[in-house]
Amino acid sequence: KTNNTTSASSTGGAAKTLTLGFSQVGSESGWRAANTQSVKDAAAAAGINLKFSDAEQKQENQIAAIRSYIQQKVDVISFSPVVVTGWDTVLQEAKAAKIPVILTDRSVDVSDPSLYVTLIGSDFEAEGERAAHLMEHVLQGHTGPVNLAQLEGTTGSAPAIDRTKGFAKVMAASDPTWKIVVTQTGNFTRDGGKQVMAAFLQSHPEINALFAQNDDMALGAIQAIEAAGKKPGVDIKIVSCDGVHDGFVAMTQGKINAIAECNPLLGPQLMDAAKQVAAGKTDLPKWIKTKESDFTQDQAAAALPTRKY
Ligand code: AHR
Repeated sequence: KTNNTTSASSTGGAAKTLTLGFSQVGSESGWRAANTQSVKDAAAAAGINLKFSDAEQKQENQIAAIRSYIQQKVDVISFSPVVVTGWDTVLQEAKAAKIPVILTDRSVDVSDPSLYVTLIGSDFEAEGERAAHLMEHVLQGHTGPVNLAQLEGTTGSAPAIDRTKGFAKVMAASDPTWKIVVTQTGNFTRDGGKQVMAAFLQSHPEINALFAQNDDMALGAIQAIEAAGKKPGVDIKIVSCDGVHDGFVAMTQGKINAIAECNPLLGPQLMDAAKQVAAGKTDLPKWIKTKESDFTQDQAAAALPTRKY
């Protein structure tokens, strides 16, 4: 839709404001809250008219939101898909309406890659691998078996699938006495992490390490571990993904041992990409990868003041 970008100077009139329809996953985690804020702030800063909807972690809500953006004839559609599968039909509808689609944060599994222009987001498999290497670091010098529990993210979502894969890959090549003894979804929420960890501790009292696929589930699990009379970070070593403020606080308290960062501040890159595709650019990189770091307890106090979210 190139007419939106006709410049004021070439026509003598005012340039049309670009309208972006954005469907967010939900508000399940601190990461998500920071991501939503980043998208809203960046749209305001870029002078983009943002239509925002929260899908409450339900794919059918996202499909309905995308259809409504098509009906409203927005210039660009963006969404962070709850799950990877089931998008072909609605994305074909967007393509037929000539509305470009930008994925943020999470990928989709579609038969035709031209159904979206680009994905702006993290390499979740690498995050799972980094988390496993952090676990190896945390367990240095440990003697005896390691009985790992894993709290997975939302079933069928790209971060849950890929972090599970990356973590398992590194663990398979690690010490053969280290085993993932139990794994289940906690749906990326604090409450989910707490409930599932409480059940894990009942069924597997031998657990001495936990990989939580986000900070919120780790924070919920910490409550369950303390309620069971154990010390998080000591009796049960904990590695998580994200790096939100509360995760850093837990690291400074010795309750989370290490975090593989996942950066939620995708708003500015999304607005840049939206402007480019609205101007007719189609050859953006298919995947614009987010840069991120690893953090251990000894770095947490120094980094905490810089964690804005
Ligand atoms: O897709 C990114 C993941 O989704 C974050 O790790 C998690 O906190 C969020 O809910």
